[in-house]
Amino acid sequence: MTTTEVTRAPRVTTPLHPAFSSALPSAAIGTPPLSIDTEFDYDVAIVGLGYVGLPTALAFHHSGNRVLALDNSPQRIATIAERSADVLDDDQQRLIRALDDPGFVLTSDQSLLARAAAVIVCVPTPVDEHLVPDLAILRSACATVVDHATTGQLIVLTSTTYVGCTQDLIIAPLLARGFEAGRDLYVAFSPERIDPGNASVNHDDVPRVVGASTPECERRAEALLRRYASSVHVVHSLAAAEMTKLLENTFRAVNIALANEFADICRALDLPIIEVIDAASTKPYGFMRFMPGPGVGGHCIPCDPHYLLWQLKTKHVEAPMIRQAMTEIAARPSRVVDRARDVLSDAGRGMVGARVLVVGVAYKPNVADLRESPAIEILAGLRDRGATVSYVDDLIPAIRMPGGDWLNAHNDPGSFDAELVIIHTKHDWVDLSWIGDNAAVLDTTYRESTITRRAVL
Ligand SMILES: NC(=O)c1ccc[n+]([C@@H]2O[C@H](COP(=O)([O-])OP(=O)(O)OC[C@H]3O[C@@H](n4cnc5c(N)ncnc54)[C@H](O)[C@@H]3O)[C@@H](O)[C@H]2O)c1
Repeated sequence: MTTTEVTRAPRVTTPLHPAFSSALPSAAIGTPPLSIDTEFDYDVAIVGLGYVGLPTALAFHHSGNRVLALDNSPQRIATIAERSADVLDDDQQRLIRALDDPGFVLTSDQSLLARAAAVIVCVPTPVDEHLVPDLAILRSACATVVDHATTGQLIVLTSTTYVGCTQDLIIAPLLARGFEAGRDLYVAFSPERIDPGNASVNHDDVPRVVGASTPECERRAEALLRRYASSVHVVHSLAAAEMTKLLENTFRAVNIALANEFADICRALDLPIIEVIDAASTKPYGFMRFMPGPGVGGHCIPCDPHYLLWQLKTKHVEAPMIRQAMTEIAARPSRVVDRARDVLSDAGRGMVGARVLVVGVAYKPNVADLRESPAIEILAGLRDRGATVSYVDDLIPAIRMPGGDWLNAHNDPGSFDAELVIIHTKHDWVDLSWIGDNAAVLDTTYRESTITRRAVL
């Protein structure tokens, strides 16, 4: 169904929904199916249909579940209904099938949550301008889920957050309503690990981690996730599951900061960083490849370690290495601006009035996601120093700049007559052959080694 108007999904009249008998997906074979409560019209409700929630809803639907797909943004519902959401091709196919199926209900009607056997929360957990967790969206979503919770329901939080959050925002408020987790209904935390834009790893094949506060909550949450995920790793507390996600993304942040530092060291010593990384990557153990770049963006690396740092501060626990990594990462875009000035200077040009074109402003290849993208700070910094800036990005037609004005994408990069081209993000299909010999090039990806007159960050 494709509108916000919702019709009831057909009620289950058999003890076991057909999805769990004849058409069992391979992921679910051999796992204990949840007993399907005939009181529920939906096997699972997904709250928040963004980069995480929509593919999750589609994965559950694809594996035979009746899905209530809920988002409180009418605009987002319309985008999904129009099949215009930014998803991988496989998910686009799943979406087309789902929208034609009465077993997939797209809605913003929160009251329907009470009719779902399981509810999965996937709403954003950003940080504010002081890098303090902004829990307003998560609090509101959890309050809604708690308000509509019913006996026998399973609630799984998947948004990245601090340790103890599931207890604070779900279990305690449920108790205030008279529901005890593990007795009246069931609660778990399972961090999401999707990598939007990455078609090389199937979302359904990424193992899920799940933890809960009682064995029955754990068992039910594991069974739910096994309906679509090919493997589930159980930890024996909510806190361990919450901390797992913070470790994963802090690990990435620290290693990206280290890769950046090695890139700077290699440039100072006149060494090719990529050749060094390629060589180190041949080691089959003890080394993991991370690439230097212009900074980090998206909803994970720039935010998640700050949830940990914020929590540690309240407990007076020091984490100097993590703090330093986050400081280095945050400073990276302004280093790009400094380096642009140097590259222009080497070409005998000052920054004032220089025509600078940024290639790719999404925070990573193949997604239309501009959240926390270093490109915004880079464009603003260049402009503050007097450059005339523009950008090209097939996926992002316009950017709202920090001052509130809009910058439109340049459709014909060759005609911009750039004196400096900064390669920020290169989507897989992008052809850079228009870059001639006239412009200097600053390659913040370190990957475009065939371009002449190229400097790296
Ligand atoms: N994007 C990623 O790559 C990624 C990867 C792993 C984990 N995560 C984590 O997953 C969580 C969700 O991230 P995302 O990138 O999907 O966010 P997103 O901004 O893409 O989507 C969130 C959706 O939730 C909706 N929403 C907000 N409040 C709601 C409410 N009360 N009820 C219903 N819908 C509501 C919004 O309208 C939006 O469509 C975050 O905690 C993030 O850290 C994200």
